Amino acid sequence: MPVIALIGAQWGDEGKGHIADKLAAESSIVARYNGGDNAGHTITVGETLVRTHLIPAGAFHPRSTCVLGAGMVINLRSLAREVDELNRLGANLNSDRLKIDPAAHLLLPGHVALDGAGESRLGRDAIGTTRRGIGPAYTDKAARIGLRAGLMANAGAFAEAVGTHIEQANARLTRDFDQPPLDADTIVAEYAALAARFALHLADTTTLIHAALERGETVLAEGAQGTLLDLDHGTYPFVTSSSTITGGVLTALGVGPKHVTRVIGVAKAFCSRVGAGPFPTELRDALGDRLRGTGANPWDEFGSTTGRPRRTGWLDLVALKYAARINGLTELVLTKLDILIGIDPLPVCVAYAFRGEPATDFPGDTATLGGCAPIYTDLPGWHDDITAARRIDDLPQAARAYIETIEAFTGIPISHISIGPDRSQIFTR
Ligand code: IMO
Ligand code: MG
Repeated sequence: MPVIALIGAQWGDEGKGHIADKLAAESSIVARYNGGDNAGHTITVGETLVRTHLIPAGAFHPRSTCVLGAGMVINLRSLAREVDELNRLGANLNSDRLKIDPAAHLLLPGHVALDGAGESRLGRDAIGTTRRGIGPAYTDKAARIGLRAGLMANAGAFAEAVGTHIEQANARLTRDFDQPPLDADTIVAEYAALAARFALHLADTTTLIHAALERGETVLAEGAQGTLLDLDHGTYPFVTSSSTITGGVLTALGVGPKHVTRVIGVAKAFCSRVGAGPFPTELRDALGDRLRGTGANPWDEFGSTTGRPRRTGWLDLVALKYAARINGLTELVLTKLDILIGIDPLPVCVAYAFRGEPATDFPGDTATLGGCAPIYTDLPGWHDDITAARRIDDLPQAARAYIETIEAFTGIPISHISIGPDRSQIFTR
């Protein structure tokens, strides 16, 4: 039985939380496989909008187990805060419902401090990270000096490892960045308590996932960030430090490609990007502001982790087709179609011009992408309010044509369309 991979098909913030929440209702396990609390996923619980950063969308579905998979980097401080907050809202994330893989890495205070110091030093050349310590945590993982979650079960060794981490981070902070050192004793004590709490949640999640698959249950792999932020296939170096694509699901959760029978790419009806790096269809005008919104609504285009205004622009079909290819997408979910109401015409990018030559493939090289100018086709817009639509036939002809253009260009069927933040405002094709 299937693993459903749910993957951001753009630069993150595609509305993955919305659809993950819907699919979680049918999944016995919902697993995050990559990243850490750099993610910010918005789900609606009753009347309340809830932001999750580490916990997958299964939190409010009592029959799903929430897994933090081996590909993640977990900040225990953030985790404690988030679990407490979600439990206040009724999530009941006890040690039966929330499982942490022992091979996941822990993201520690030194990583956070080094991320911030590194970004500040880069100044105008900064990547624009979330400053959550993601890069330094994955650096330690790759260098094989990271601290894995499994060590929480061994209090003595854990305290020693946290102490060593702080010592190493302090050496770099003071020597390379002229920053004050972190206080090792306080942090070691704080982390001893966090480890005692979360050690109860340790479980070999690969075994749990395979057992569920053998019972015929559905496992949802909930992606964080997006395809174009993938460490290998994204717009390096303006990427995150993890594998955000389908390949990352396999390595992180320990499943084979035959298990992943549905690969759902989530794409917004336009594009956004937060942080630096090339963005061919970016708008720097009033239309861009209109796509962003004013920030008055929680779903406006402002970072849900950092509050930064997102860069916005037209839908980039060249990039979306690339995402379809490298993930092996089997379907697409199109979100925030309502934001386009009243914009007429609606340009979509169908090719790039690079040094005067047209290019139809997304360039693998980031500098080349930076030199690409978008070539647009204008599609007709629509003026009717679509936020009450509950099926495709409720949409005006121009909105359906927009959907069909995306399908024809990418070769991927659109299975769900969202036209607002409410749980009822996402419908199946
Ligand atoms: P969700 O899961 C959008 C971006 C950062 C920066 C780059 C590297 O909500 O879609 P990092 O802190 O990961 O080292 O930053 O990646 N970024 C995201 N952009 N949505 C996210 O997550 C992101 N997580 C990281 O802005 O450009
Ligand atoms: Mg987000």
